[in-house]
Amino acid sequence: MSKPTEAIGPVTVWDPLVRVFHWSLVGSVAIAWITGDEGPKTVHHWAGYVAAALITVRLVWGLVGTRHARFSAFVRHPKAVLGYLRDIARGVERRYIGHNPAGGAMIIALLLVVGAQVLTGWLATTDMFFGVDWIEELHGLTSKLILVLIGLHVLGVVVASWRHRENLPLAMLTGRKRPATGDDVA
Ligand code: HEM
Ligand code: HEM
Repeated sequence: MSKPTEAIGPVTVWDPLVRVFHWSLVGSVAIAWITGDEGPKTVHHWAGYVAAALITVRLVWGLVGTRHARFSAFVRHPKAVLGYLRDIARGVERRYIGHNPAGGAMIIALLLVVGAQVLTGWLATTDMFFGVDWIEELHGLTSKLILVLIGLHVLGVVVASWRHRENLPLAMLTGRKRPATGDDVA
């Protein structure tokens, strides 16, 4: 006999704010990346400031937002993150309805590094740091770190989508996922 939850349709996991935040952040970081290298910097600066505004809103939402949006729902101790990565390597990791522990750690890393990127970029435009080499170098360095993190983030999304037979990028668009069954973490 099937479990009662298997009869229920998709459940809403990501509220509209999380979804709009995610894809707007992807857009603003992409625009900032493309416009960083050469030419006038107006679009570059504004794309960076939009990313900063999005992150600020998300930090507040992480405290007062819906269930799966809260930091308390997905920020885990590093030991739990390592344990989850070990489970993935052994092919026994549990499916999470919200962010899994490894995904949660990556989200914190992305928010911190994109935040640092905007800060160093802004500092490079201030009187105090204008033309100062190490600030510009740091800005260039964190931009490469962002690329590495995005690569790992997308790899994690692909692996989790494949392992649990669900389209996670689509869920980040619609907000909906298959409900928890069996050993899943609701
Ligand atoms: C600039 C590039 C990207 C950045 C900065 C970024 C950042 C983030 C952040 C901060 C979250 C947490 C969302 C929240 O709880 O508010 C997240 C989740 C997520 N992102 Fe991205 N992301 C990027 C690119 C992508 C791309 C290209 C995809 C599609 C393949 C993607 C798919 C997802 C999915 C599916 C989740 C939810 C993961 C889960 O189910 O736990 N992201 N991303
Ligand atoms: C998500 C945010 C951002 C990303 C991904 C980003 C990325 C980049 C990249 C890839 C470069 C080229 C670095 C190089 O040639 O080594 C660059 C340069 C630069 N960025 Fe940003 N940036 C961001 C935000 C900002 C902000 C908010 C500002 C200032 C308000 C800013 C100011 C600058 C300046 C002045 C340069 C030129 C530095 C130089 O001449 O070497 N950036 N940025």
